[in-house]
Formats: sequence, structure tokens, C-alpha cells
Amino acid sequence: MSRSGDRDAVVRDQYETYPYPPRDPADERKRLITGSPSHIDEINHYVFAGKRDFSAPFRALVAGGGTGDGAIMLAQQLADRGRGGQVVYIDMSESACRIARERARIRGLGNIVFHRGSLLDIADIAPGPYDYIDCCGVLHHLEDPAAGLAALRAVMAEDGGMGIMLYGALGRTGVYPLQESLRLLGGGEGARGRIELARRLLDDLPRSNWFRRNPLLGDHLLDDDAALYDLLLHSRDRAYRVGEIDDLVRSCDLAVTGFIEPIRYEPETYLDDEALIRRCRDLSFMERAALAENLCGTLKTHVFYLVAAGRAATARACPAAEAIPVIKDQSCGALARALAGRRELKADFDGAAVLLELPEQAADIVALCDGSRDLATIRGMLGMDEEAFGAAFATLYRSLNGINLMLLRHPA
Ligand SMILES: C[S@@+](CC[C@H](N)C(=O)[O-])C[C@H]1O[C@@H](n2cnc3c(N)ncnc32)[C@H](O)[C@@H]1O
Repeated sequence: MSRSGDRDAVVRDQYETYPYPPRDPADERKRLITGSPSHIDEINHYVFAGKRDFSAPFRALVAGGGTGDGAIMLAQQLADRGRGGQVVYIDMSESACRIARERARIRGLGNIVFHRGSLLDIADIAPGPYDYIDCCGVLHHLEDPAAGLAALRAVMAEDGGMGIMLYGALGRTGVYPLQESLRLLGGGEGARGRIELARRLLDDLPRSNWFRRNPLLGDHLLDDDAALYDLLLHSRDRAYRVGEIDDLVRSCDLAVTGFIEPIRYEPETYLDDEALIRRCRDLSFMERAALAENLCGTLKTHVFYLVAAGRAATARACPAAEAIPVIKDQSCGALARALAGRRELKADFDGAAVLLELPEQAADIVALCDGSRDLATIRGMLGMDEEAFGAAFATLYRSLNGINLMLLRHPA
């Protein structure tokens, strides 16, 4: 029996009318869209301690796959690593599914199985166990997000994990009062009428309005009805603080192994005062993340990886001597050239200006991170002693892993 009822019909109808995100399948001939969660190097790092062999059988579920960004990226990356991987896609929206299928067809990907239906029914439609589950921007649209996560948990392999994206409450300041205003003003018109109403209201907001004052929100400025609808007229969405994510994942006996980008979730990133920084060190991983969210105040989305709570301490890769650093989505040579002569990187996290420290040897180390050499080999090639290399790599790793440019894998 279906666990998703008529209450989901209104969300499904929205995504039938406005499949999300808008994608032209023909673009697959020109580029592969990559991102987080579910980049294969991230999955390996945050779910399998860097030790997963993706040429061996690997089964992934993309729950609420939309027009296919996550499913296509993962299926392509799995196909590039051998023939062991299969992706199961499920979404309630037929029109989103049609676009995702066409993208797979154009890429010649034969490793995706498509299903139309609710993720709440996944155990009946396409039972697990799944080694990995992607659920990006979906749970916050469910009537009961905890029930959705529990349905996914029930089909997750015990030694597997998940990559999740949920909206962040602080960065979306102003969205929900505006959604409520549009519901109050709306008078039963169809999608086109509601969009026109939203555009009128946007043009007429007083300067004091928090939505108008929030520089982080830009989807309504695009000439894109689907994006506007998703932001302001969604039939059901909510946003999360880090503490609420903790409660949600604990309710399913899961634990967070990492947030992307990690350095945004470290309170020290936003502080200079040594006395305050010392106090941060006594906090737990999730307390530190919650504090960082409060300090920076601009996180619009939370992307994070989950594993069974009992596995949390060992599921994330760490920089031991046998670890192999992997530069994400670019060659080590190109990154080394960009870092040459630099002792810091400037980052702007939505208005929070941050300086990321680099060791003197940053470019030399990165130039040797070709994805096959381990840290012991790289140290030997540079002729550095263990202590000096350990200190230099720790600084480099904190900055580059911090902005999600460097991940680790370990020989199986
Ligand atoms: C904002 S889109 C995200 C799409 C995709 N995950 C991505 O990140 O590009 C949300 C998607 O979740 C789907 N969805 C919402 N509730 C669902 C449910 N209970 N079961 C399956 N899909 C659902 C919608 O149809 C829509 O395609």
C-alpha cells in the first residue's frame, strides 16, 4: 500500500509543472554537472573512510532525483570507474523523470534504473540494501521529513551511508514570511497567476522587509519561473538549523560525518579572539557546527554525509601516512600553479571574509598529489622529515579539504 497520500499531490503537481532544476538534456553533449552531495570522491571520503573500490558492485539510490543532476553525475562517475556501479532513481514527478531519462540516454549511461513514485514507498518499489543514498533538496518538502529519512534508513546497507541537502534556516531569512504573505494574498489563481502575484509583491516590498534585505537570495532575480516558484511559492518547505539536523538524524540512529564545505562549519573560521577560540575546542563536532552556523549566519543550505551512528567514528578518511590525497575535479598541476608563492587563500563565505593559511610548501606538495601517490611517498619525494611534513600537510589539508578541494582515499 502506498504510504504517500493525497497530501503529496500538491507537491507532485508543482514538480510536474516545474520540473526542478530546469535542464536541457542536449547540454549533456557539452558538460557534466558535478556538485555536492554525491561526488564520488566525497562519498568515498565521508562514507567509506576512503577505502571503497567502485569497480566492485556498488548500488546507489537517488531519492527525489528531480531532473537528474545527482543521478547523472554519480552514474557517469561510476561508469568511468568500471562496471560495478548501478544507480536507482526515484521521483514522484513524471516530467522530471522524463528529463533525467533523456539526459542518461544522450550520455549513453546504461547503469540507471528509473522509477516513478514516492521515496516513502521505496522498500516496496526498489528494495535495498543500498550502499549509498542521495537525497538532495527533498526531505524538507515532505510532510514528515523524519518519516522520509526513516524510509531511506530502512533500505540503507548497515555499512553504507547517505548524502543529504536540506535548506538552512538562517541564510533563508525572509523567505518564509514572504511565502506566507503570498498565501494570504493569493486567491486561487493557477501557477501563472501566482508567479505574477509574486513578481508584483517583490516589486512592492518595503525596504525594511527581511527578504529584500537578504543579499543571499537571488533565485527570484533570474528570468526563471521554476526557480521563483521553488523559492517563494512552494507548496511545502521548511528549513533547518544544525541542531535540528542533529535531532533528525539521531531519530534514525544516524550521525553526520562531515558538512560541505567543512571549514564553514568550524567556529574558528569566524573568530580572531584567542580566548573564544580556546572555548570552541571543548565542543563536540555537532556543537561546533551549530556554533559556526550561528556565527556566520549565512548558511542557506546544509550538505552533509550520514552513516549509521555506530560507524561515525571510523567512516571519515583521515590523513595517515598511507592516505592518498585526491584533488577534486582539477589536475594537481593546475592547482599547484594557482597556489605558487601564496601563504594564504582569500575566501568570501557570503560576506564573511576568511583567510585560509597555506604552508610554505603548499604548491610543491599539491604538485605531487596526482591521486596515486600516498603521503609517505610525497614526503619522500620532497625530502622532508616527518615532523615538518606533518605540520605542513596538516595546514594545507585544513584549508584545501576545508573548501572541498582535497579529499583522501586509502588503498583498499
Ligand atoms: C528541489 S527538487 C530536487 C531534485 C534533485 N534532488 C536535485 O537536487 O537536483 C525536489 C524533487 O523531489 C521530488 N519529491 C518530493 N517529494 C518526494 C517524494 N515523497 N518521493 C519522491 N520524490 C519526491 C520532487 O518531485 C522533485 O523532483
